[in-house]
Amino acid sequence: MQRMSNDYSDKNPELGHLYPAHVSAVCARHDHALENSGAAHAVIFSGCPKTVFLDDQLYPFKANAHFVSWAPLTGLPLSYIVHTPGETPRLIYYLPHDYWHPVPGQPDGYWTGQFDVRVVHTIDDIAAHLPDDRDKCILIGEIDDESHTFGIERVNPTSAVNILHYARGVKTEYELACMRLASRRGAAGHYAAEGAFRDGRSEFEIHRAYCKAVSHADNELPYSNIVALNAHSAVLHYTDMDREPPSEMHSFLIDAGGQVHGYASDITRTYSYKDARFAELIERMDTAQLDIVSRIRAGADYRDLHVETHRILAAVLIEAGIANGDPDTLLATGVSSAFFPHGLGHLLGVQVHDVGGFMENENGSTIDPPSGHPFLRLTRELEPNMMLTVEPGIYVIDMLLENLRGTQAENHVNWDGVDWLRPFGGVRIEDNVRVTADGCENMTRDAFTALA
Ligand code: GLY
Ligand code: MN
Ligand code: MN
Repeated sequence: MQRMSNDYSDKNPELGHLYPAHVSAVCARHDHALENSGAAHAVIFSGCPKTVFLDDQLYPFKANAHFVSWAPLTGLPLSYIVHTPGETPRLIYYLPHDYWHPVPGQPDGYWTGQFDVRVVHTIDDIAAHLPDDRDKCILIGEIDDESHTFGIERVNPTSAVNILHYARGVKTEYELACMRLASRRGAAGHYAAEGAFRDGRSEFEIHRAYCKAVSHADNELPYSNIVALNAHSAVLHYTDMDREPPSEMHSFLIDAGGQVHGYASDITRTYSYKDARFAELIERMDTAQLDIVSRIRAGADYRDLHVETHRILAAVLIEAGIANGDPDTLLATGVSSAFFPHGLGHLLGVQVHDVGGFMENENGSTIDPPSGHPFLRLTRELEPNMMLTVEPGIYVIDMLLENLRGTQAENHVNWDGVDWLRPFGGVRIEDNVRVTADGCENMTRDAFTALA
């Protein structure tokens, strides 16, 4: 893994080497989905750009994740992949004659050899490349305009989609290689962002330093960066960006990733500016996070791990002088939930919150999160080569802490400790890990180490 280059392009020879087996695996899961839905052809639509209401501007294009999991084509609207079992997949590649907007280049890259590529220049030319027997097709994609179905009536049937979503939970070697690169990309951004924070920059400037280091425009980021100074760190999805630095710098929480061919990393780090007590809390959280990561393995129940994380974080709160009692009491009285009000993590892939985290099997049955923990997005048993995040956090969120007033929990909170932590906002540490038979590969820590 340390040999890996930082070539993010579709000329990367390592990715080119792994890609044919990936396409074979994707074909096999589509064969199975077709069989289960009694259809002969799967047609995957990349998507259509959306227009702003009463305007002629387009929102940034986000390709259908199903399409991206076939091919590294994140910017190819109005295109189709046709899969027929036993045949080379067909790619209907839409290359319009358009001088108002940028158009995709000619098909080029390691992926082209796996497709029967048909370049079309008008929408009307697409129909001729779709299977004639439309009644034997299923269409997978977001359809806002009926004309994009070309007469295919079965759109996103659950008999097929459930199988595809369940299968996506386990990554191919190609996908894992893309995600190692995405981790590298994100780690490079995190180093640049930490440097900008140490230089006393504003949230906006730190964000720009991050984007420059990962070479992403805002729309290319896998999700909106969370760049939070001081108390902003307690806003779980803080995406404002103050243009001026705060008058006093206390802390920095950054949750930001990178993407390579549509595959995401999702990384969080927290830093103390100069405060030794807050630095010590970050250290405790780092140790706790690594302890949780060390419990990941195939067969583990992530629901149990999430509940165990509450006990581990309760111990951190006690050691840091923010709560008192014992971890089980803090869990039972709701103290740990007030400080840690989100899930331990989620599946990761072509979507940051990848599909399939609740699925019990490929038929669509689901597994509920544990009672009292509605925000946990990953309830399924862990299998080798699943990619997931591990992201414990503790925050001062007054709206949640106030709910403890007047309950048994109130006496288990050291309110002085809360007052001390409030200006720092909180701490979250998030890594991306690959599940193995007896442990996991921590792609995030590996990436930080490789770039150190
Ligand atoms: N960045 C979103 C998340 O951590 O889930
Ligand atoms: Mn995150
Ligand atoms: Mn996450």
